[in-house]
Amino acid sequence: MDKLVIRGGRRISGSITASGSKNTSLPIIAATLLAGNGTFILHQIPDLKDIMTFTQLLNHLGAETTFESNTLKISSRNVENLQAPYELVKKMRASIYVLGPMLARFGHARVSLPGGCAFGPRPIDLHLMAMEKLGATITIETGFIDATVPGGKLKGGHIDFPISSVGATGNALMAAVLAKGKTTISNAAAEPEIVTLCKFLIAMGATIRGTGTTELEIEGTKTLKAIEFHNVFDRIEAGTLLAAAAITGGDITVNGVEPEQMKAVLKKFVHAGCTIETTENSITLKSPEKLIPTDVTAKPYPSFPTDMQAQWIALMTQAEGTSHITDKVYHERFNHIPELNRLGAHIEIHKNQAIVDGPQHLSGTKVMSTDLRASASLVLAGLVAEGTTEVLRVYHLDRGYEKIETKLNSLGADIRREKYNEF
Ligand code: EPZ
Repeated sequence: MDKLVIRGGRRISGSITASGSKNTSLPIIAATLLAGNGTFILHQIPDLKDIMTFTQLLNHLGAETTFESNTLKISSRNVENLQAPYELVKKMRASIYVLGPMLARFGHARVSLPGGCAFGPRPIDLHLMAMEKLGATITIETGFIDATVPGGKLKGGHIDFPISSVGATGNALMAAVLAKGKTTISNAAAEPEIVTLCKFLIAMGATIRGTGTTELEIEGTKTLKAIEFHNVFDRIEAGTLLAAAAITGGDITVNGVEPEQMKAVLKKFVHAGCTIETTENSITLKSPEKLIPTDVTAKPYPSFPTDMQAQWIALMTQAEGTSHITDKVYHERFNHIPELNRLGAHIEIHKNQAIVDGPQHLSGTKVMSTDLRASASLVLAGLVAEGTTEVLRVYHLDRGYEKIETKLNSLGADIRREKYNEF
């Protein structure tokens, strides 16, 4: 198993280019199941464990894939196995993204129920509701979702999501594009990941109106085609890199980004005292002498994203005062807090709100990653902690950050990746 050994106290400064987005890659990779004629060529796909897991799943279904220098080629011509097994789905809950496209193209799918995850239950009831609205019959037995489409073809319908769900919106879109007739989706997620999925599906030949809004309208088409596509940047990786500079009193330019997608996060960095300058495809952050305590409430886009909540808590341990960080998307996404407190932070949790007292002097020690963004927050804290911090179980980090220690070391950090054994 790998750990990151971080020598703290060094300023993060310089410029870096963001990788392609993980959370955009996953639905567009699933969408390749919709067209069996030709080979998809997807550029700027990050080299991450989650991507490898997903391509493994597509291979298991019968797709052919090659991955070279961030370009993923996929042909789903020979897909015939319609079962997504527990062994693969348990590694990554986003595997549920195969449900919509498989029902749309094949009229049948058996997908293992995804596990929960470190920060509480992650239900999929909205995914299943959407499929049923489009005519699927779903039974759950022996840990599997068994979905079939009477007559073999989904029919357009109206889907009204009671809460905003990125994954369920993605699945509904990928099912509707081949359904017979029109589908409308109300209270759709409007995250950039969904905007990019809509653009991808439209480029494949789908008819979708309302991209970027919470009201989507899809006219089903008979067939879709394989395309070449350039993935967008990872807005959460970019935000994490900005936080690395801010927590160490450094300054950074992140290139290859679309600042427009990060307005809520950039606004909070400004409130915290940072200077932010943007161009069409870059963001430059300069740190203040002293960080200003800044409250944050994580909500669906375009609000501050829940995937930046843990990183923001780490940053606020260095602010001159008390900050309140509330997560309205995942009420229990706070496993990073006990580990941050072991580094010397003073953070209390009240329901779905963290109260962070700053500034706190952090001292390096061994800390345990529990999930992807929690591990990112521990790396950020290690950058500023005195002495050496060892972040264990970095397989969590490797799911969502491409070569993070290489990137941070190129900006002045001192991070070594080492093997270790757990008792
Ligand atoms: C996506 O997960 C992201 N993952 C998550 O990022 C992100 O935190 C989340 O969206 C919210 O932005 C990917 O894109 C692969 P949701 P998803 O459905 O789609 C509830 C990361 O760190 N809900 O938008 O699973 C759910 O419990 C990951 O990269 C239901 O109740 O999230 C949550 O409270 C972590 N029933 C809320 O909706 C459902 O059927 C939003 O979840 C589905 C969701």
